[in-house]
Amino acid sequence: MTLLELDRVEVTVGAPAHGGHCVARHEGMVLFVRHALPGERVIAEVTEVHRGYVRADAVEILEASPDRVPAPCPWSGPNACGGCDLQHVSPSAQLQWKASVVQELLARFAHLDQVVRVEQLPSPVGADGEPDTGWRTRVRYTVDAEGRAGLRKHRSHEVVPIERCMIAHPGIRALPVLDRTWSTDAVETVAPSSEPAFVVTDPARPIVERAVGHDFTLAAGGFWQVHPAAAQTLADAVIEQLAPKPGETAWDLYGGAGLFAAALADHLGVTGQVTLVESAPDGVAAARQNLAQLPVRILESTVERALAPRRGKPAVNGPVDLVVLDPPRTGAGKQVVTAVAASGARAVSYVACDPAALARDLATFAGLGWELAQLRAFDCFPFTHHVECVALLVPAGS
Ligand SMILES: C[S@@+](CC[C@H](N)C(=O)[O-])C[C@H]1O[C@@H](n2cnc3c(N)ncnc32)[C@H](O)[C@@H]1O
Repeated sequence: MTLLELDRVEVTVGAPAHGGHCVARHEGMVLFVRHALPGERVIAEVTEVHRGYVRADAVEILEASPDRVPAPCPWSGPNACGGCDLQHVSPSAQLQWKASVVQELLARFAHLDQVVRVEQLPSPVGADGEPDTGWRTRVRYTVDAEGRAGLRKHRSHEVVPIERCMIAHPGIRALPVLDRTWSTDAVETVAPSSEPAFVVTDPARPIVERAVGHDFTLAAGGFWQVHPAAAQTLADAVIEQLAPKPGETAWDLYGGAGLFAAALADHLGVTGQVTLVESAPDGVAAARQNLAQLPVRILESTVERALAPRRGKPAVNGPVDLVVLDPPRTGAGKQVVTAVAASGARAVSYVACDPAALARDLATFAGLGWELAQLRAFDCFPFTHHVECVALLVPAGS
């Protein structure tokens, strides 16, 4: 049977897949169904047709999972705001959902039989001192044709005007953004750890974030972990995995404003040395300022270029003792993994915001004689399908 957009079919929903949906089948066709839970019987409405699969939304729940909860956000759901995928999933089942997706990706791409547990981060605190759902310290609202700020529908440029975003940081929610009109295309907001939230009119404006006992000055538009507890949590995980010793050397690849380099430098001491590689000029400028007093060499380059042999030696050359890899969603890729695997490192800590890219890179490491020694996963993005992993890799048999 050929399914067309807006067709409705009754299906039993299977396991969650990467991307915020569950897999279902109907007469040989694969459906990726959003707003459903494993085991549910639902009416799925087709939203996109592709060769071999369709995307669909669960628009009617015939048999609900015990893990289903009423969505706390009234702007979420089928054909509504696309910001959150898991509003209908209980908090403990969200963790289970993400764990099973990571587990499945590791099995499929890296042939790893790894039990995954997703760890919660401390909740942000609201103005009343109580735990708050607002973990997003950066929110980019899109402005519609009438000048109202809102958030986009899933896989669409259409803007859904909202009155409140429950995952926006309490400071961002308090800003006068959603109750007025705008003449810009978008409204960027940020809630830095060191000052009240504000609307970003100049992305180069410096802000200060605090983590690992350091202050990090960076551009308001520059990269920093979005959940207020993420930078500290991930740096703690990296340091615990690598167990750096005084006098050792380390690479911080995709180093940004210098979070991991600072944490490493504190452990390696004055006899140690960290090399940070970052390609974004604003990240490099921030790292130069933030790490000026620490034994850190900073290189403005893509990691690919820094590790590639050019007229003899690469700009960043082994042997090195420890490596942190924290690439963007695309992952490190074969060339970078191959160079890191040949660096002589005793351990690599790989911080990954896309578990599929991580799983592919782990397969490359495995082919080069490296093994996964530990995998931690963190819920840095509650109510969405996103999950952050920190993987420890060591040369096999070490
Ligand atoms: C996930 S962020 C991590 C930043 C930093 N480690 C942190 O935790 O704050 C990835 C960083 O890699 C940088 N980047 C992206 N592609 C790159 C490449 N090919 N080479 C070097 N840096 C890259 C981005 O500018 C960004 O700062």
